[in-house]
Amino acid sequence: MSNYWDKIDKEFLSNWQFSEKHLNDESFNWLIDFIKTSDVESILDVGCGAGALLYKIIQANIHVKYTGIDISKNQIDIAQKAFNEFKDSFHHIDSIENWSEKVDVVVLRHVLAHQDTLEQMQTLLSKSVQLSNKYLVIIFHLNPGSEKILYRASKQWGNAIEQNWTHKELEEPIYSNVPSAKIDKIELPYSGKNKKKDKEIIWLITLQ
Ligand SMILES: C[S@@+](CC[C@H](N)C(=O)[O-])C[C@H]1O[C@@H](n2cnc3c(N)ncnc32)[C@H](O)[C@@H]1O
Repeated sequence: MSNYWDKIDKEFLSNWQFSEKHLNDESFNWLIDFIKTSDVESILDVGCGAGALLYKIIQANIHVKYTGIDISKNQIDIAQKAFNEFKDSFHHIDSIENWSEKVDVVVLRHVLAHQDTLEQMQTLLSKSVQLSNKYLVIIFHLNPGSEKILYRASKQWGNAIEQNWTHKELEEPIYSNVPSAKIDKIELPYSGKNKKKDKEIIWLITLQ
């Protein structure tokens, strides 16, 4: 899994720059509205990649403490290069199990899809719940359990796509950490480049 990202990162590293085309997914607008209107002062972006969420936060002029962590060293290098002023906000991690700083909201955007096994997915989810004081936001490309297959994704990443996990398997690590957690499922119109095919789904998990 991390090898895949390291490989594509090398290709992108030399000429990566942010542009609106990478950032026009509805989920970013939803996230920005959520941050603006909720009682959150700090965010942990798990699997932050090149830092797209920080770009949106800066663009929206929101004052919130942002931290991005990723298992791909190359993605973190790209982010630190792109956001020189915020380079201390990005951290390379070997595993989420080594991270301990708690925040108000943990975001997992298009990350669960890339876990190779059910166990890895559940560990990531469980630890994400533990790192949050208030909310966990999970953004999926497709609804878990969906009949649809992302052929491109399944070819590149094996079968580890999020629709392989059932809702129950996803909910287990959330409820086992916080039995009273409230899970709201929000379906967004997908506005990215595969407009016709995909639909983003958000799980907003309120932990208190
Ligand atoms: C599709 S990218 C999404 C990047 C970013 N969240 C966004 O929305 O633009 C997936 C990222 O998740 C990272 N990732 C995958 N599994 C991870 C894990 N277990 N812990 C932390 N990062 C992970 C990958 O290295 C990659 O940068």
